[in-house]
Amino acid sequence: MSFSPRDFRDCLGQFATGVAVVTTRTGDGSKAGITINSFASVSLDPALVLFSVDQRAATHALFAGPCTRFCINILHQNQQAVSELFSAPGQDGWDNVSFEDDGHGMPRLTGALASFSCKRHAVHDGGDHSIIVGQVDHLVMGQTGDPLLYYGGRYRGLDRE
Ligand SMILES: Cc1cc2nc3c(=O)[nH]c(=O)nc-3n(C[C@H](O)[C@H](O)[C@H](O)COP(=O)(O)O)c2cc1C
Repeated sequence: MSFSPRDFRDCLGQFATGVAVVTTRTGDGSKAGITINSFASVSLDPALVLFSVDQRAATHALFAGPCTRFCINILHQNQQAVSELFSAPGQDGWDNVSFEDDGHGMPRLTGALASFSCKRHAVHDGGDHSIIVGQVDHLVMGQTGDPLLYYGGRYRGLDRE
């Protein structure tokens, strides 16, 4: 390998993305969520999307294990605090976010730009991550407005550098 992990991260950071929070519920009904920017569309028919989750993340065992349903919430520009809550260790964020049931028992975050309710379609090996592919069976177009962006290791907005 001709580059350092730092170089790799810096180069990856040149790819601007949106930010999403993937939510789920465990068997005992408790809620879990993780901030991701590895969201991608996969297939139109069937409707498939993916995200990758670090094997060291607390929620990895859920998304790669028993939690076969989840809701992917694309964050609005004004939801940076929500992103921060779900990228912090632990799951203390839930007291500070508003959500409703997505119709399948998963928490759909209020104020998101769009939400994809998914049934897990596949889990693929992704090195130190697992690639979770979801089949979308319900969509909600949420709040209108601009997306929260992530670029160069920082949050951005369409109207702020
Ligand atoms: C903008 C942003 C994007 C992130 N994208 C991912 C991702 O795609 N996959 C992932 O596993 N972690 C990602 N993370 C990190 C997780 O959100 C974070 O490591 C995790 O929630 C830490 O808490 P835990 O280990 O207690 O679950 C991202 C963090 C931020 C701030």
